[in-house]
Amino acid sequence: MYIRDYLKILRRQWRLVATLALLCLAAAMLWTMLTPSVFESQLQLFVTVQEKGNTSNAYEGGLLAQQRAKSYAQMAQGRAVATDVVRQMGLHQRPEDLQAQIRADVPIDTVLINLSVRGSSPDRARAIADAVGRQLIRLVDQLEAPAGATTTVTLRSVKPAEALSEPVWPRRTVNLTVGLLLGLALGFGGAFVRESLDTRIRDGDDLEEFGLPVLGVIPGDPAGGRATVEEVLASPRQLEAVRHLRTNLRHIGAKQEMRSLVITSSLRGEGRSSVAVSLAVAVATTDRVILVDADLSRPRLADYLGLSNEVGLSSVLTGQATLEEALQGWRSVLLVLTAGPALPYGTELLTGEGMRHFIKQLESLADLVILDAPAILPVTDGVALPAVTSATLMVVRSGRVRKEQLKEAMDRLRLIEARVLGAVLNVHA
Ligand SMILES: Nc1ncnc2c1ncn2[C@@H]1O[C@H](COP(=O)(O)OP(=O)(O)OP(=O)(O)O)[C@@H](O)[C@H]1O
Ligand SMILES: [Mg+2]
Repeated sequence: MYIRDYLKILRRQWRLVATLALLCLAAAMLWTMLTPSVFESQLQLFVTVQEKGNTSNAYEGGLLAQQRAKSYAQMAQGRAVATDVVRQMGLHQRPEDLQAQIRADVPIDTVLINLSVRGSSPDRARAIADAVGRQLIRLVDQLEAPAGATTTVTLRSVKPAEALSEPVWPRRTVNLTVGLLLGLALGFGGAFVRESLDTRIRDGDDLEEFGLPVLGVIPGDPAGGRATVEEVLASPRQLEAVRHLRTNLRHIGAKQEMRSLVITSSLRGEGRSSVAVSLAVAVATTDRVILVDADLSRPRLADYLGLSNEVGLSSVLTGQATLEEALQGWRSVLLVLTAGPALPYGTELLTGEGMRHFIKQLESLADLVILDAPAILPVTDGVALPAVTSATLMVVRSGRVRKEQLKEAMDRLRLIEARVLGAVLNVHA
């Protein structure tokens, strides 16, 4: 997989990624809000050693102070200090629980003791830290002042306890960052899983797997809704796309004869009728075009073009009208053969030699005959028309048809040796 493949997946699945990222961020935020805050207060103590009558041996005194500092740090976290503080402050907690809130350490080669005490509020943490400091100093004074001692070791507070106004727990920034990263990771994971399970055709790359050149890409209706044929014809983007399709078809037509063109698709609703009408109008600016509604199961062209459907293809095929009677002009631009009255087993009329002759007859009247055909898979004779015309164009609606379905449709076309020119990708959502 190349970077552009990852970017493509991201572009398609960005909603999933964004949703999971936001959900995890919201969960992290909620968890942070619901977790009781813990504040910390810090206090620094200093150990001094004085030898009565002898101030010369400062080095030894310093060493002694460093050793003492380590012991006092242990005592600060010990049971005796915690018990005294609980009693003195009237705390409603067990000494061992308070012990867990006190941390004392001695920076290397110093005579300092850094005390940090945690509490449920900044004031409480500071009050406990002060009390721990006081109790420790009192305890050290008691221990270090035996009668007749020549050395005086004292512990002093360097500065009063200070409380941080920001809680040390929960760590808001860390939690939110982790929540967001976790959400993004889940989102990306989910996007890749979803993509690997989703076999719907999305873009031209997917069509190339089927050997289908993309001859045109019809953009969706910008308003997101269903566009009427009038709207499609009035939309500059859609018109431009159809003109591009026309140019590509002309290119093919210049090399190989193309007198009749079937517009079909694997499934219903992929946009065959819309493409057939807009392409017919585009080609009709220079060529004589006959547009035929050959989708007898779901005739739409009469509706789309505001024409009558009383007489049409079915009437001609059953001999109830002549072709000349059934053909209708549309805005002096093109000739249209609507589907005509519905018949039981109507699609069977489209098969066989009779239909081939009929197509030849139509071809003799125009430069190009465009047929809006039934969808291939849901109809029994879905490939009847591609079998009797000179070229076929597949309309593929992106995000709708699955690869298996397109493969099945292409297999059926291959079986009857249809000449499939390529595909029109309809990106209408
Ligand atoms: N690119 C598009 N932009 C806007 N609307 C579209 C587009 N493609 C199709 N539609 C709308 O989707 C609906 C179905 O399109 P259309 O009738 O062309 O498909 P079809 O394949 O002929 O369907 P059916 O199987 O019913 O014959 C129509 O309402 C049409 O206006
Ligand atoms: Mg249709």
